[in-house]
Amino acid sequence: MTKDTLTITDNRTGRTYELPITNDTIRAMDLRQIKVNDDDFGMMSYDPAFKNTASTKSKITFIDGDKGILRYRGYPIQELAEHCTYLEVAYLILNGELPTQSDLDQWVNEITYHTLIHENMKQLIDGFRYDAHPMGMLISTVAALSTFYPEAKNVDDPDIRDLQITRLIAKMPTLAAFAYRFSMGLPYSYPDNDLGYTGNFMNMMFKMVEPKFEPHPTLQRALDVLFILHADHEQNCGTNAMRSVGSSKVDPYSATAAAAAALYGPLHGGANEQVLRMLNKIGSVDNIPTYVERVKNGEFRLMGFGHRVYKNYDPRAKIIKQIADEVFEVTGRNPMLDIALELERIALEDEYFVSRRLYPNVDFYSGIIYQAMGLPVSMFPVLFAIPRTAGWLAQWVELLTDGEQAIARPRQIYLGEDERSLVPISERG
Ligand code: ACO
Repeated sequence: MTKDTLTITDNRTGRTYELPITNDTIRAMDLRQIKVNDDDFGMMSYDPAFKNTASTKSKITFIDGDKGILRYRGYPIQELAEHCTYLEVAYLILNGELPTQSDLDQWVNEITYHTLIHENMKQLIDGFRYDAHPMGMLISTVAALSTFYPEAKNVDDPDIRDLQITRLIAKMPTLAAFAYRFSMGLPYSYPDNDLGYTGNFMNMMFKMVEPKFEPHPTLQRALDVLFILHADHEQNCGTNAMRSVGSSKVDPYSATAAAAAALYGPLHGGANEQVLRMLNKIGSVDNIPTYVERVKNGEFRLMGFGHRVYKNYDPRAKIIKQIADEVFEVTGRNPMLDIALELERIALEDEYFVSRRLYPNVDFYSGIIYQAMGLPVSMFPVLFAIPRTAGWLAQWVELLTDGEQAIARPRQIYLGEDERSLVPISERG
């Protein structure tokens, strides 16, 4: 007879323990009963970087890394990318169901009417040095929003939470575009309520002196799809930061700033920026074999390759590769694409990458598209943070409404000095 339990024998004591298995998981706290004697704290599990630890139950995003599957709320990413707008998907991620037409109209209306930021925010942005990285500016200005909306700290009030969610999703593109305009030395371009989410973002980024900015429909749609692909990705580094910081019940602006800071790192959302730098460094298709050899020798990593969860082709990278062709028809072909395609071809045949199951991830092609659309490399992580805000906020609400969650506080294995006596500074050798 089979049982959903795990039997553990502690060979130090000869005692046996039977732990329940739920959802193919044991509870780490069930290990605590395993003790050598009554003074023993009890057994813990050791899992640096959470490689095999579930920190939460979640109903938002499903990933099967081996099969290359990604679904939001049960819907395959391919179908969402084909049929929905970003705001429709953001609604789904946040509310659990796709909106009806009237739900969507109301949601779009709410977002459209919260895009303005307080005028003082411009002074904050103006205070940055002329060459400030836009992601540094975004992290700071998102955090600063908390000072404009002090009621946001009432995180247990669902109505207050909802209002901050609307504000954050509406204002992220404005903050991002203002950071860009500052770094380009251009006057700020204000939101245009006639345009959709990504069309308005393009207006705030690219409008010059024309009375009305008209986004190219192909580029607007490509941006919308890219935003859909980046909207959530379960418990990655940035989301874990959102949940960890949010578990202290700080306001969502501060928690979002923390998540964005995590996203800024080159191993996470900063990777697409690194991909472009890498492709520039490689310079031409002829230099690829030498570059790949250096990667294999451990000198550096192939940016945009490999993923903690996907050990197969990242499904998002496949969709991005498709929309790249549509974008290049409008913008002209980005010469970096040829280097990327050849790099991918060589890597996918090479034993080093095949045996480690290293495939292109979402960042490998997104940067090439962004660059073709006229966006500077430094804006790439910013373009990731805008759509990911929906995922962060959905995960944050899930955390706050989950009775099993508490302030995030991991354990450690202390391996430092035992107690010792302090030696006065004059006697230290
Ligand atoms: N290039 C070369 N070798 C690599 C790469 C890479 N991009 N990624 C992993 N490896 C190798 C490692 O050296 C290691 O080899 P070894 O077993 O001989 O030591 C093996 O593959 C496993 O690597 P880990 O670091 O254990 O894999 P992990 O799952 O921890 O790392 C990560 C995942 C951080 C994404 C990694 O693949 C990487 O650094 N990639 C490049 C950066 C990147 O593209 N990041 C974007 C990720 S997607 C996102 O954040 C949206």
